[in-house]
Amino acid sequence: MKVTVVGAGAVGATCADNIARKELCTELVLLDIKEGLAEGKTQDMMQTAALLGFDTKIVGSTNDYSKTAGSNVVVITSGIPRKPGMTREELIGTNAGIVKGVCENILKYSPDAIIIVISNPMDTMTYLALTSTGLPKNRIIGMGGTLDSSRFKYQLSQHLGCSPSDLNAVVVGGHGDTTMIPLIRYATWNSAPVTDFLSAEQQQQIINDTMVGGATLTKLIGTSAWYAPGAAGAALVESIVRDQKKLFTCCVSLDGEYGQKDICLGVPVTIGKNGWEKIIDFKLNAEEQAAFNKSADAVRSMNDVLKTL
Ligand code: 2OP
Repeated sequence: MKVTVVGAGAVGATCADNIARKELCTELVLLDIKEGLAEGKTQDMMQTAALLGFDTKIVGSTNDYSKTAGSNVVVITSGIPRKPGMTREELIGTNAGIVKGVCENILKYSPDAIIIVISNPMDTMTYLALTSTGLPKNRIIGMGGTLDSSRFKYQLSQHLGCSPSDLNAVVVGGHGDTTMIPLIRYATWNSAPVTDFLSAEQQQQIINDTMVGGATLTKLIGTSAWYAPGAAGAALVESIVRDQKKLFTCCVSLDGEYGQKDICLGVPVTIGKNGWEKIIDFKLNAEEQAAFNKSADAVRSMNDVLKTL
């Protein structure tokens, strides 16, 4: 099994680090356009192998895509991250050109790869990856909802005083501060509805804090977060390479599901050796469906910007 992570910034390097520690593949390539960056980070990671006890071979590359040849899974993290006060959407002009170019280069050497998109604005970059490559839709997966759902579990755990891993909770819709929809009605603490233990005010607070989860961190750190985005990317790689068929919220191409088509948006899907395999139909109530439609409208107008570039 071979995996490539494109972009050796904080998110890409963290994703690669998680993949190596879990030994999800025999060979892992980390590629970046900046001279020496991927090679340097790769050597640093390889120097943890003896300490952590992993055998994945990590290879660094400065923009030499021939090194990525034959990758089964490729994670794209390239592009500029947002700065405090910026929305993910403001990155579209720069990142669209980068993501399109990366997809072309990757497919030259790994025509069968499954592509995971992390670059922002993630919903539009996923749509761009799908439409520019013409790949079968199951092979293009946007990571956003996986991260947002993990952030949602963290916020719930803070109020419930419990372990985040004892929670089941999903965020659907877009990966924007105003487009994501934390489905609190469906969230459970080992099978008990979390709404049984939280006041209406607490529930609203949790939803609000989840939606601005990325922006809050950007304000604190001065740039976009990386530990959770990197771990979310690696969790998707794991489900693919081990064919786990785990249920994650991912940004995928919709063809009538959840009432939408010609758009990539976050919905619960199973992830396995074929990429995203099945969309799971959570029955949304009228209010949730209206929020989902609104989210789709916002993402669609962002996708329209691609036509002007
Ligand atoms: C975030 O929300 C990087 O979009 C990512 O932190």
